[in-house]
Amino acid sequence: MSQLQGEIIAAGAASSNLGNYEEACSQFHWEDVEKQFTWYETGKVNMAYEAIDRHVDEGRGGRIALLYQDGNGRQESYTFEELQAKSNQFANVLRSKGISKGNRVFVFMPRSPELYICLLGILKIGAIAGPLFEAFMETAVKDRLEDSGAVALVTTTALLPRVRRDELPLLKYVFVAGDHVQKEEGILDYYSEMNQASTNAEMEWVNREDGLILHYTSGSTGKPKGIYHVHNAMLQHYYTGKVVLDLKQDDVYWCTADPGWVTGTSYGIFAPWLHGVTNVVRGGRFSPGDWYDTIQRYAVTVWYSAPTAFRMLMGAGEDIVREYDLSSLRHVLSVGEALNPEVVRWGHKTYGHRIHDTWWMTETGGQLICNYPSLPIKPGSMGKPVPGIQAAIIDDNGKVLPPNRMGNLAIRTPWPSMMRLVWNNAPKFEEYFRIPGWYISGDTAYMDEDGYFWFQGRIDDVINSSGERVGPFEVESKLVEHPAVAEAGVIGKPDPVRGEVIKAFISLREGYHPTEELKAEISRFVKEGLSAHAAPREIEFKDKLPKTRSGKIMRRVLKAWELNLPAGDLSTIED
Ligand code: WT7
Repeated sequence: MSQLQGEIIAAGAASSNLGNYEEACSQFHWEDVEKQFTWYETGKVNMAYEAIDRHVDEGRGGRIALLYQDGNGRQESYTFEELQAKSNQFANVLRSKGISKGNRVFVFMPRSPELYICLLGILKIGAIAGPLFEAFMETAVKDRLEDSGAVALVTTTALLPRVRRDELPLLKYVFVAGDHVQKEEGILDYYSEMNQASTNAEMEWVNREDGLILHYTSGSTGKPKGIYHVHNAMLQHYYTGKVVLDLKQDDVYWCTADPGWVTGTSYGIFAPWLHGVTNVVRGGRFSPGDWYDTIQRYAVTVWYSAPTAFRMLMGAGEDIVREYDLSSLRHVLSVGEALNPEVVRWGHKTYGHRIHDTWWMTETGGQLICNYPSLPIKPGSMGKPVPGIQAAIIDDNGKVLPPNRMGNLAIRTPWPSMMRLVWNNAPKFEEYFRIPGWYISGDTAYMDEDGYFWFQGRIDDVINSSGERVGPFEVESKLVEHPAVAEAGVIGKPDPVRGEVIKAFISLREGYHPTEELKAEISRFVKEGLSAHAAPREIEFKDKLPKTRSGKIMRRVLKAWELNLPAGDLSTIED
């Protein structure tokens, strides 16, 4: 099916944790993974215990858990013992306000040690954590807090103005981490609250099916969906941390993702700390020199990033690579969107490492289809299912298709880290499981005769820009709030570096004229009202947008215009 299929990069280290792939698959039992955790003996568990406190109890409390550095000269390190004490303090702060198990508590701040401490403290009391990406603006923040019914939020002085407290009656407490926190009802000074709190706290022991985290993610219609995960996900995080990330005790691991996205929690918090390894967090913006410096400075051994970053590093060239000592690296991985074969080849040549692509989604909670150190890589392929996971290509009726046929990428249900709910939205949840026994991912793919999976595209209109999912509907809704915009249709336009960029087709209201200034103003309006990554990079004015007779904008037709492709079936078009 693809001429790429013949190309193979031979397997790497034979000493990987997975060992022989086929053997690992045939001998796999989730019960063997379960034996890791307290519930095997007590029937109760807590992610924060397994990630932090357990290492203290088992004599590893003095090891470095977190190495933090940002672009403004802040540089700190924390041992497991120190993170235990700090997260206990925050657990006590929350309890002192009457916040308890099952409550939703959000964190809206840039990457910082406080962000990680708060997330752990939230989990320790059995509350459900809701991380929000720092780039979110007023509407995005409000929609997510409102939908989840959050009772408390931690934020910073700079981000506080984006929180519309007057429109969020359930939000009782806002903790502000910053200087000179203003005295106001419901506003609390994070640092002074922490200073008064004890470093000892009782762990809230929960059931494995109790709520852990809510990650809001985009679909093609409607507001973002609150994807709800439970503590049981730790089985997947632990196991994939072992066989996919290949974590070993002395590793220094760096996941470049922000905890506002699922990669930044499942693999930026849970997987590494379940394994007790040192976790590197770098705040601030992307820059090739700073990134290579991070690897050199901390002697990073395992590095998990995204295609868009690898493409930018490739764009920065090979000379800059030679200025740094990257010899500590042992294992390199990628997630977020399709990893171009060219990038895999470049990485192999330049870093001397194969970049291991991994496929999964917010909804799956953990990695499902991956490349492994002990398996050959076919550049352009996402790899093979994680042992314990059954993946298939099925048609719309649930029939499993033979190799090399394109169809719906589907996963046999259940698996430990599968989402348990879409918050407040049972119909959306059920859509994913409309074919009995299967989870339908919304991606199309095919499997070759060797069992490798090849990503083909999304079925819906969800845009993947720089590895971040953007829902066209949310952007369109913001666009039509602008006084000049009558109607808007938003698509992803293929882009060599970002995967896709957001392009908006807009028809203007009477009296407005299509100018370059207006385009810039409209784009800024989305940036300031929703978020920077959702703002259209390109705008095209049209007198009329293609619509179905029921009034739905046909993004498929917009995309065909953009790509000069046939528009397909137009039988439902308005005129
Ligand atoms: C969508 C999920 C959870 C990881 C971060 C993104 C696309 C993800 C790959 C890959 C091709 C990929 C899919 C998927 N995607 N990884 N290795 N190759 N496409 O999570 O925001 O929930 O997005 O990202 O389209 O459905 P997400």
